[in-house]
Order: sequence, then C-alpha cells, then structure tokens
Amino acid sequence: MPSELSPTAKAPPPMRALSGIQPTGRFHWGNYFGAIRQYIELQTAGEAFYFIADLHALTTVRDPARLRSLVHAAAVDLVALGLDPAQATLFVQSDVPEVTELTWLLMTVCPMGLLERCHAYKDKKTRGLPADAGLFTYPVLMSADILAYDATVVPVGEDQVQHIEVCRDLAGTFNHLYGDVFTLPKPRLVEGGAKVPGTDGQKMSKSYENTIDVFEDLAAQKKKIMRITTDSRPMEEPKDPQGDHLYELYSLLASEAKRMEMEALYRRGGFGYGEVKKALVEAAADFFATARSRRAELEADPGRIEAILADGAARARRKAGAVLARAREACGLSRGASAPGRKA
Ligand code: ADP
Ligand code: TRP
Repeated sequence: MPSELSPTAKAPPPMRALSGIQPTGRFHWGNYFGAIRQYIELQTAGEAFYFIADLHALTTVRDPARLRSLVHAAAVDLVALGLDPAQATLFVQSDVPEVTELTWLLMTVCPMGLLERCHAYKDKKTRGLPADAGLFTYPVLMSADILAYDATVVPVGEDQVQHIEVCRDLAGTFNHLYGDVFTLPKPRLVEGGAKVPGTDGQKMSKSYENTIDVFEDLAAQKKKIMRITTDSRPMEEPKDPQGDHLYELYSLLASEAKRMEMEALYRRGGFGYGEVKKALVEAAADFFATARSRRAELEADPGRIEAILADGAARARRKAGAVLARAREACGLSRGASAPGRKA
C-alpha cells in the first residue's frame, strides 16, 4: 500500500486560490469581512489569482462609463485594502479572452437542467422577471474562470457554493470524456460563514440599501452609523450583546480589548446606543485608516493601477493559455502535428 512517503503516492497539487468579485458597486463592510479579507489572508498561503468579474457584471451594469469606473475603483480598493500584486495576480476578467473560449468548451458538456437549478437564474424566473442567456449561463463562465487557472481553492460566500458544484460537475464530465484535463476545485467558506448585518439588522447587501461602504466619506459614514436601527429597551436594562447588530458590527472593527469592554457594558446596562454608535464610528475610522491613505496615494497615480492590472493580465493569460491548449488538444480542436496533410 503506498504510504504518504512512498514515491508512487501522488503529491497533492500546490494550493492555488482564485476568486472573482463583481464590480457592481463600491465595496461595503459585508464584502470586506465576508470576502475580501479572506482573499488577502490567502495570498501568503500559496499562489493566488484574484480578478474583477467585469464580464459577469455586464448582465447588470449597462452603462459603459459606469462599468469602466467601477472596474478601476474595484482594483484601487482591493490594492488599498492589502491585496499585494507582488504576492497575488490581480487582473480584470475580460483581459483574458482564453476564458471565454473555455466557456464554450464547457458549455458543450453542460446539461440545461443543471443551469435551470442555479439560483441567480431561478430567482429571476420565479419573480417573473426576464432573464438573458448571460444570466442563464453565468455559472459556466464562472466555471471557466476557475478551471482556466487550475485553481484548487475558491474562497467565496455561501451564495456561490452552488456555482462551484456546477464547476466541479463540468470539470468532472469533461475529464471523463477527454482525460485528465482540469483540476477540481474546492470552495472555501469564510470561517463561521459570517453574515455581516446591515444598518437595519438584515444581511448587509446593496439590494437592501443597508450598506456601509468601506471607503465612503467619513462624515457621510458617521451619519449612516448614527441612523443604525436599534431596539427601544430602556437604557438601564442589561442587554445580551449576542444577536445585536450594532454590537456585531463593532466586534468586527474594534480591537479585542475594546470588544470585551463593550460586551461588559452591554451586560451591565446603563448605557445608550448613541454611545455605542460613536464608538463604532471611531473603530471604523481606525480600522480602515491605513487602507484609506493607501487609497488616496493610488488615486493620485492612476497609471500605477493600470500597470498592476496589465502585469496581472499577462500572468493570468500565460496560465489560462496553457490550460486552454490542454483542453483544445484533449477534445480534438487542436490539429497540431496530426492534422491531415501536415508533415510531422
Ligand atoms: P451584495 O449582496 O451587496 O450585492 P455581492 O453579492 O456582490 O454583494 O457580494 C460579493 C461577495 O461579498 C460575496 O462573496 C458575498 O458572499 C460577500 N458578501 C456580501 N454581503 C455580505 C454580508 N452581508 N456578509 C458576508 N458576506 C457578504
Ligand atoms: N459570481 C461571483 C459573485 O457574484 C463572482 C465570480 C465570478 C467568481 N467568477 C468567479 C467567484 C470565479 C469565484 C470564482 O460573487
């Protein structure tokens, strides 16, 4: 039996993390704590590829100038938040055309039923809204995004796990038909599957208009925080901090010592929510202070971000080109030396 040390045991593939983020609006705290923070942590654990999913965003953002500006802003924000282009490959999805070709190859092995069950399309359909083929086939493009880079780990939120299952299915079918072409990826959920609450206590989301954006102007941010909904229990009453959305937000942003102080304050009672909100305003300003100043520097030098993205695209294309060549060869698209009439 081959032991772990046996020369015949296949070494596990090196960890290669990959994820995409849609540029459909400015990043909010939910995006940061639910996704971006984890990408940044993973960049030192192995190879990492992160991209701005502009092709996916095309199904919702129909204004070209807005799309261009959102893509640029997303890149600036990610680098300001700590995504290090020396450690991770950062690029724009549409700068790698190999991925759209790979999408077609995967489309030919994708059963309609699989896509009909995917939630983005299904939700629209049940609400009686028109859906385009882009939305319908969205999980196939996402699969190509992942498979093009031989990703082993895909850090995502709960909502994307279904799409990674689709990706594994398509890769499995393709491999079954044509040989061992694709690496099967695994999703990696944010620890505890944390859902960051919004200003109204529901999940923070652009669609609920309850977001606090990472880089919004501090005065506007303060106003929003001071308007966070709270319950009307009397100030003297001790309160359980668990499940209190104001406390949950504070815990994400404050130091551990300050969080413990706040927890004790809740349990003791005799405080006002206004105090907690003020503490949250300060904690948020402190937490993102370095990112804000990095962002200001990057904004003053737009060429720098474009250079980072161009370099990222070149690296990404090299990798995706090799995987696509493998896939073309395997399914009979590449004629190479065996082409009829071609001399060896
Ligand atoms: P929105 O709901 O505002 O449209 P997106 O769907 O674009 O946000 O989210 C992008 C990423 O951020 C996803 O990986 C998602 O799981 C994560 N995310 C978004 N909102 C939250 C939240 N409130 N809590 C935790 N993660 C979140
Ligand atoms: N669909 C993802 C989202 O909406 C974004 C995305 C596109 C993605 N391609 C991907 C995420 C590949 C992970 C891997 O959040």
